[in-house]
Amino acid sequence: MQTLVLTQQHVGKIVGLLGRDRFTERVIDRLQAALGDPHHGTAPARDGFTRCPGDSGVVEWMPYHVPDESMTLKTVSYTPANPTSRHRLPTINGTLTRFDDETGRLVAVCDAGLLTAVRTGAASAVASRLLARPDSRVLGLVGAGAQAVTQAHALSRVFPIEEILVHDCEPDHAASFLDRADFLNRKVRQADPAELAAAADIICTATTVGVGQGPVLPDEGLRDHVHINAVGADLVGKTELPLSLLRSALVVPDHLAQARNEGECQRLAEDEIGPDLSTVCRDPESWVKHREGRTVFDSTGYALEDHVALDVLIELAEETGIGERMLIEHLPTDALDPYAFAN
Ligand SMILES: NC(=O)c1ccc[n+]([C@@H]2O[C@H](COP(=O)([O-])OP(=O)(O)OC[C@H]3O[C@@H](n4cnc5c(N)ncnc54)[C@H](O)[C@@H]3O)[C@@H](O)[C@H]2O)c1
Repeated sequence: MQTLVLTQQHVGKIVGLLGRDRFTERVIDRLQAALGDPHHGTAPARDGFTRCPGDSGVVEWMPYHVPDESMTLKTVSYTPANPTSRHRLPTINGTLTRFDDETGRLVAVCDAGLLTAVRTGAASAVASRLLARPDSRVLGLVGAGAQAVTQAHALSRVFPIEEILVHDCEPDHAASFLDRADFLNRKVRQADPAELAAAADIICTATTVGVGQGPVLPDEGLRDHVHINAVGADLVGKTELPLSLLRSALVVPDHLAQARNEGECQRLAEDEIGPDLSTVCRDPESWVKHREGRTVFDSTGYALEDHVALDVLIELAEETGIGERMLIEHLPTDALDPYAFAN
């Protein structure tokens, strides 16, 4: 009846004990299995509010339901001014909650900062494993913020990545990425978008480009077999890729309804959109031939990814005894008397 509370410190301790590599690999493998399971669960497209400053931010709620088992709800905010403002806070902040499906009781509460980044990297790793050439060696990153770290990490776990080329419109962010990615033990260097486009086998775009301010990649000079994980198109009107590039590629959304509303797919007609990632996971062989052409994973952020990442973390918390158990929701001696405990 108590709720498991996992703060930033608990998450850090758990990931530190298992190691970044093993934690990321576990989330990747569990996510691919869940995406491929036709009976897993359901998620409506997320919803939210735009908010200050200047309506550039949002707060959203993302539910995922596994009937007869559990429900995960992430509340997440996007505040692109945060890292460079006086606050020096992340762009993405959030909290995960887990509920028991039978009783509706709160099972766990968990900080969602690192888990969001890891599961977003894991989703790109799964999509790339299915849609990119297995011998991909050069990774291009456009946007060198928080998500770029876990994109590079997750892709380095599933591909023989030798070199990472990075571009960011903030020179400080591109420069500091070299230190933040040092743990990957790969050759990392800055490149302009044209050089990056010409060299990369896989590209991840993870920018906070403003609504209507894209694209962040050129539409010419890309490799014929390039696979792109478009991570930053996740608001109405906010897109990162040139339309001509999308139209020349197999476009695979994470969650079709959500991607049509706020992903790269918002600019495509229905017949220009390929299968969703779950469909590809369930029948990978049918899509192998597309690895020789251009492919795009339209990653808007699917609540299933949060559910799976939270599963992994709760299991590790139970194994290691890390985390705090608290009675958050009221537990009256008489279920019919809400005052029973308030004397
Ligand atoms: N698909 C998903 O599941 C998912 C999950 C988390 C975050 N996101 C999205 O990914 C994006 C990045 O998130 P983050 O946490 O890394 O943010 P961040 O603020 O840490 O990093 C974003 C970086 O993009 C750079 N940038 C902005 N405009 C650019 C441009 N035109 N060209 C090159 N670089 C540019 C910024 O300078 C910054 O360094 C956000 O839009 C966020 O909403 C998506």
